[in-house]
Amino acid sequence: MSGGHDLGHVAGELHDAAKRYAGEYPIRVRGLKNVFGDHAVHEGLDLDVRRGEILGVVGGSGTGKSVLMRSIIGLQRPSAGEIELFGHPLGDALVDGDIDIRSRWGVLFQGGALFSTLTVAENVEVPLKEFYPEISDELRHEIARYKVLLSGLPAEATSKYPSELSGGMKKRAGLARALALDPELLFLDEPTAGLDPIGAAAFDALIDELQETLSLTVFLITHDLDTLYEICDRVAVIADKKVIAVGTIPELLALDHPWIQEYFNGPRGRAAKDSRKRFDAVRAARAAQDAVDKSAGGGA
Ligand SMILES: Nc1ncnc2c1ncn2[C@@H]1O[C@H](COP(=O)(O)OP(=O)(O)OP(=O)(O)O)[C@@H](O)[C@H]1O
Ligand SMILES: [Mg+2]
Repeated sequence: MSGGHDLGHVAGELHDAAKRYAGEYPIRVRGLKNVFGDHAVHEGLDLDVRRGEILGVVGGSGTGKSVLMRSIIGLQRPSAGEIELFGHPLGDALVDGDIDIRSRWGVLFQGGALFSTLTVAENVEVPLKEFYPEISDELRHEIARYKVLLSGLPAEATSKYPSELSGGMKKRAGLARALALDPELLFLDEPTAGLDPIGAAAFDALIDELQETLSLTVFLITHDLDTLYEICDRVAVIADKKVIAVGTIPELLALDHPWIQEYFNGPRGRAAKDSRKRFDAVRAARAAQDAVDKSAGGGA
């Protein structure tokens, strides 16, 4: 591979630029308030996200999960409260030294939000162009291609337009774009919504694997109980305009809040408890496939 060395060099540069956060909580939210007109969505919302965890964020539709995410990444200016990212207050300046802190996270928006007039590779190149304009076209293409493959899409997908992709492929393309800058934080808003159960389980497995290999901290909004059981280290529950509880699912089950009980102990919640088995089956199948690929590659 001719470009391998250069790609590694640039990847190293991206990593250096990111200066990985060493503290315990890359995201801290205190007293967050968001008001639209006379409708308060959040009031006195607190949340700490631990480094290296996959935090599931749940709550009924309209409870403000997406607004919370947009507040944390600076797209929604809160009415009150403090947000700290990587130990720095998220104020007007999103700059830490000479680093634009927006380059330290990646986002997969609810619905994907790919640029429809750009190919998959061009979509992935958008943040690279914005934050690293000095990178040559050739390297940028190569980094984009690498991120597409990392997201589990075939190489042919790089030149496809979003309209030519299935729902699951669109999510993976969005994920590739979210990973473009080697982020420390990954924000996912309903990543498995609209996928069939097998596609959703495969996507969950991919997130789980990427979290581990890339040491990501993941803020994952979901309605998908299977996802919560399978890959989330902790779950934050939004109700009554705040985070009413954060913990492992057994910890949440010990609380007697009606929404939590209905959600996790209702019929769908109980069914999801069994889904760990399905997840493990997907993992085993992938490991077997990897072994086959490796031995095929070794013989070539
Ligand atoms: N820009 C905006 N202007 C006015 N109201 C808004 C705006 N953005 C969100 N809202 C309102 O804030 C509330 C929370 O919206 P949000 O999209 O965060 O909900 P959600 O928890 O993500 O729901 P879902 O599970 O359906 O995605 C809703 O009542 C919504 O109508
Ligand atoms: Mg939402």
